[in-house]
Amino acid sequence: MLGQPYDASHNWMGQSSEHFDQKLAALDLSLFDAISSQSVKGDRIAWLRLQQAARKLSNPYAYLEIGSHLGGSIQNHLVDVSCSQIYSIDKRPPRQPDDRGQYYEYENNSTERMLQNLRNISPEGTEKIHCFDSDAAGVDLSKIKNKPQLCFIDGEHTQPAVKSDFQVCLEACDPDGMIAFHDDNVIWPAILAIRNGLQARKQRFKSVKLGGSTFVFLLGRSSQFIYPDLLTSETDGDQFLSQQQSKARFETWIRKPARALVPSSVRKTIKPWFKSLVD
Ligand SMILES: C[S@@+](CC[C@H](N)C(=O)[O-])C[C@H]1O[C@@H](n2cnc3c(N)ncnc32)[C@H](O)[C@@H]1O
Repeated sequence: MLGQPYDASHNWMGQSSEHFDQKLAALDLSLFDAISSQSVKGDRIAWLRLQQAARKLSNPYAYLEIGSHLGGSIQNHLVDVSCSQIYSIDKRPPRQPDDRGQYYEYENNSTERMLQNLRNISPEGTEKIHCFDSDAAGVDLSKIKNKPQLCFIDGEHTQPAVKSDFQVCLEACDPDGMIAFHDDNVIWPAILAIRNGLQARKQRFKSVKLGGSTFVFLLGRSSQFIYPDLLTSETDGDQFLSQQQSKARFETWIRKPARALVPSSVRKTIKPWFKSLVD
């Protein structure tokens, strides 16, 4: 059972909550204008659609995020009266490994800087945020008192980290909730392994490939209650995962050997034909 919604009839830069509701219903991307976020338009539309779905599952709802950086993917929940609690988990290492094969640097990455960004939007909204400066696996889950309806994983982009983050979300979240991921084009092998694990355990779930590089698992009741809404303009998650597997096989068995064996002039000539095979 969630707590009371925090009272903010004028919750967002002096605007009424009705005004916010209209913006959310219209998928108005200006909701992301105040703090920069490492995301594209398709992601932002997907995140607002997930927010609508969270409200449909439970009002008020709670939101949990792993990897918050500046607060760019929190700002839309901060100003939502229907969001009663935000959990932000971020270990804030100076640099982090990544399955793209390089380290990513995050200068001056601090919880205080994030909170200041969020205070600039809504000082009262920040009262509903609980921050953990830790890896998700190190969080004491008894502190997650309001089981989140929506979890968002955008921390370290390596297979072991994503799998570990998912396990934490699975334990912490509402059994009828949603667990979403960012940068699915990078972390899809972890998502595939998670999907296989859920299937093997005969857990009730569905997956949806949303816009940008956002992917979501809908658990329990949400797999029936929310799935049709999200799927109307998106793709089944399984289709996305098999496309990624085909692309990876193509890379291993055709593109890499071709690069080594076939001169570049010949590669350019036959490239359109191969491309049509995998697209
Ligand atoms: C891609 S950024 C998050 C961007 C943010 N979600 C947005 O859209 O604006 C990744 C964040 O993950 C955090 N991070 C790195 N390793 C982590 C870990 N093991 N656990 C939790 N967070 C981690 C980093 O400190 C960084 O703030």
